[in-house]
Amino acid sequence: KALKLIVTGGAGYVGSVCVARLLEAGHEVVVVDDLSTGHADAVPEGARFVEGDAADASADLLGEGFDGVLHFAAKSLVGESMQDPGKYWRGNVFTAIRLLDAMHEHGTPRLVFSSTAATYGEPEGSPIPETAPTRPTNTYGASKLAIDHAITSYARAHGLAAVSLRYFNVAGAYGRYGERHTTETHLIPLVLQVATGDREEVKIFGDDYPTDDGTAVRDYIHVVDLADAHLLALDHATEGEHRIYNLGNGTGFSVRQVIDTCRQVTGHPIPAAQAPRRAGDPATLVAASDRARTELGWKPERADLHGIVSDAWRFTQERR
Ligand code: UFG
Repeated sequence: KALKLIVTGGAGYVGSVCVARLLEAGHEVVVVDDLSTGHADAVPEGARFVEGDAADASADLLGEGFDGVLHFAAKSLVGESMQDPGKYWRGNVFTAIRLLDAMHEHGTPRLVFSSTAATYGEPEGSPIPETAPTRPTNTYGASKLAIDHAITSYARAHGLAAVSLRYFNVAGAYGRYGERHTTETHLIPLVLQVATGDREEVKIFGDDYPTDDGTAVRDYIHVVDLADAHLLALDHATEGEHRIYNLGNGTGFSVRQVIDTCRQVTGHPIPAAQAPRRAGDPATLVAASDRARTELGWKPERADLHGIVSDAWRFTQERR
């Protein structure tokens, strides 16, 4: 059934890809984005675009009657969250609470929320299941975890059908939708900037981690596989329940392996330099996504790292 949906943050990286997939599936989409980090030209054609605050602008719209909200809009820089926590408690948590209140007021039945692996902090084991303890090591992760808790209580009290998706390391691109942050901190786009000549070298943050090659290990998931999980989450959202799913491929790649893959894909030597560890980085973050596979029927189809990097590389070259 075609749904009428609000997508906050639909001008951002993951949001824009998700909007493109929602439109292809026949849903009706209104994007709400304040363009603080998103780009107006990233809003897919076919979506209505409202520039504004994720809570205020959505509250104004919800009276029209919507089947659900996908809430992507958020601040997501770990370093910044430690320097300026208020930006994360107000910008992420307070905004989400106001959005939840507006949804309750207007009887909007469904919510899909962008949560994160950062809610787990330094994991006790690998891979990480949803039942793992949540002890975030940074304010960004703490802000997302606080929202998850709020969603649980709104679902119980008000019958909201809610799903939180805990993303691991999102990468890749889809057509003209990809990663283009003004402040880029993510490994793959930074490495590709070396291949385009926009950056001289990549820094490897730490080579003394307890991993095979000493560099940190992450679970990279293709942005299209991630987006498609949101469509399944909408289908499976159940009144009065808050479900939480990890989204990753279950395979970890080290920083060195990622750089090597980027060398293969781009044919560029990509000089890399050792640098100290980045504060707050866990050694290994790999998802156990069995719950999403079993309950949502989710099956990542683009798990191959070479393919993920190739898609990011194509996007990077086309953007120049
Ligand atoms: N890294 C480098 N050099 C760089 C950039 C990153 O060595 O120039 C390393 C990082 O230290 C980390 C790995 O590459 O070990 C991946 O780093 P990213 O910044 O790409 O991704 P993170 O794993 O830090 O971030 C992800 C999500 C965040 C989330 C975080 C939680 O992208 O949104 O996990 O830890 F908050």
